[in-house]
Amino acid sequence: MDMDNRKILIVGGSSGMGLALARRCLDAGATVVIAGRGEAKLDQARDELGRLATLETAVVDISREGEVAALFERIGRFDHIVSTAADIDGAYRLLPEIELSAAQKVVESKFYGPLLLAKHGAPKLSANGSLTFVSGIAAYRPAARGAAVAAVNAALEGLVRALAIELAPIRVNAVSPGWVDTPIWQLVAGDAKDDTLAAMAKRLPAGRVGRPEDIADAIHFLMGNGFTTGTTLHVEGGHRLI
Ligand SMILES: NC(=O)c1ccc[n+]([C@@H]2O[C@H](COP(=O)([O-])OP(=O)(O)OC[C@H]3O[C@@H](n4cnc5c(N)ncnc54)[C@H](OP(=O)(O)O)[C@@H]3O)[C@@H](O)[C@H]2O)c1
Repeated sequence: MDMDNRKILIVGGSSGMGLALARRCLDAGATVVIAGRGEAKLDQARDELGRLATLETAVVDISREGEVAALFERIGRFDHIVSTAADIDGAYRLLPEIELSAAQKVVESKFYGPLLLAKHGAPKLSANGSLTFVSGIAAYRPAARGAAVAAVNAALEGLVRALAIELAPIRVNAVSPGWVDTPIWQLVAGDAKDDTLAAMAKRLPAGRVGRPEDIADAIHFLMGNGFTTGTTLHVEGGHRLI
């Protein structure tokens, strides 16, 4: 898709899939705003991406309505809004050990965040614009310790279907990734990250785990395909088959 003169907001653009998507959109000629809570992380991503003429950063916590509203007041109109944001710190625990506050952060970052982006962002979108959110394989292949994440991913996909009706003709979609090698795995598996991902790679029909670029590719498709809305696109190397 030619993205010349397109403006794209990527919440989560300072890391992992969002960072890969930012690179992809900048390569295609878009103007990109990457957003997240951590200013230092955003600055580092900006240095990595370069192209300062077409790249902006914005500090925002999408679980806070005032911050989301202020972001859209400040940065104006958009063609596409994407969120890859997730705060899963402390959420991968067995039920007896999980703190409610950690589960709430998952809900706030992956469910209320997208809801607020839709509420305050949709009025700023062009008529052929889109919203794309990121759910995940945990909704389909839940594992012990992952109940909060599994539930939120499923809820987000329901939200996407409802928003696709309410916000039409703006399109609203989700990408559901399988296991993708990004910094989030440090929180999920710690020092066991590499072994855990390597073991999954052997089991998957695709023969490898995902790369951030695989997901960026899928989001790029959803932004550009004018006949796709209310859909969840699974990009998981065959994970639902095993
Ligand atoms: N990696 C996988 O294997 C995998 C599998 C299935 C689904 N997913 C989903 O894919 C998405 C992207 O994951 P990733 O692996 O790319 O994660 P990541 O590398 O940890 O990136 C997450 C990004 O979200 C931002 N963020 C978190 N909470 C936020 C909030 N409240 N407001 C604004 N920004 C926030 C983070 O920046 P700050 O911390 O600075 O805010 C960071 O830029 C997530 O929804 C994740 O649940 C990942």
